[in-house]
Amino acid sequence: MSRPESIENRWDILYREYPEVYEAFSNTPYEPTVYEQLPGIINLCGKSIADVGAGTGSSSLALAQCAGKVIGIEREAAMLRQAQEKVQGAEVDRVAFLSGDALALPLADNSVDLVTGITLALYPPRQYRDFIREGLRVAKDSVVYIGIPPGWYGGDLYDVIEDVEKVDDEVDRIFIEEFQFAYQDIFSNQEYETVDHIVSTYGFIFGKKAIEYLKRENKTMIRWKFRVYWSE
Ligand SMILES: C[S@@+](CC[C@H](N)C(=O)[O-])C[C@H]1O[C@@H](n2cnc3c(N)ncnc32)[C@H](O)[C@@H]1O
Repeated sequence: MSRPESIENRWDILYREYPEVYEAFSNTPYEPTVYEQLPGIINLCGKSIADVGAGTGSSSLALAQCAGKVIGIEREAAMLRQAQEKVQGAEVDRVAFLSGDALALPLADNSVDLVTGITLALYPPRQYRDFIREGLRVAKDSVVYIGIPPGWYGGDLYDVIEDVEKVDDEVDRIFIEEFQFAYQDIFSNQEYETVDHIVSTYGFIFGKKAIEYLKRENKTMIRWKFRVYWSE
């Protein structure tokens, strides 16, 4: 079967059928990375962390650079396989990946220090209420979520990708107003180097309008704003 030009923001199709494209998208370098900025906000060092929505493992392995132990939890088998294949050497004792659902975590009460969700992107947004309740049940210290704040879906191409259902306002409201999480914004630039690379990864995910714009403007960098939310 030939690959379509774009999956037009259907992240469920991306995770199930094109985990290698997600991997190439998430591995495109960020400057500075979220993980370089996060320790200035949350103390991760030596902590035990359940990283929910672990995807192909990038977030769990990055957290493990400082954390004591990380359990990555992921529900999509194709993503989980890629994550498990990445664990090597000394990481084997400190990083494990489990099949599981963010809305019913397969972990005991107060069994880890932190529960993280790094661009977990639950849909529909009301599911965040269950994730937060589950996180608060399992975490001794805090639940930490990193998402995209309102107006930043697709990074600085938000206005180009105009006809997608935008859910970030509701997510933001659930964390800040309903659950009283604290938050702080961080910025990062993602450099794809070539138009071909940005079109086949970012463009493949975010749609034909994005692809047309990237080609027309010869754009190879996306600026992202992320919002770190945490329970106090
Ligand atoms: C955007 S990816 C982020 C992956 C990883 N945290 C990273 O930063 O690269 C979101 C991941 O969350 C997973 N996910 C979505 N809903 C989930 C749920 N209810 N339970 C577990 N995983 C879920 C998806 O399958 C996907 O792999």
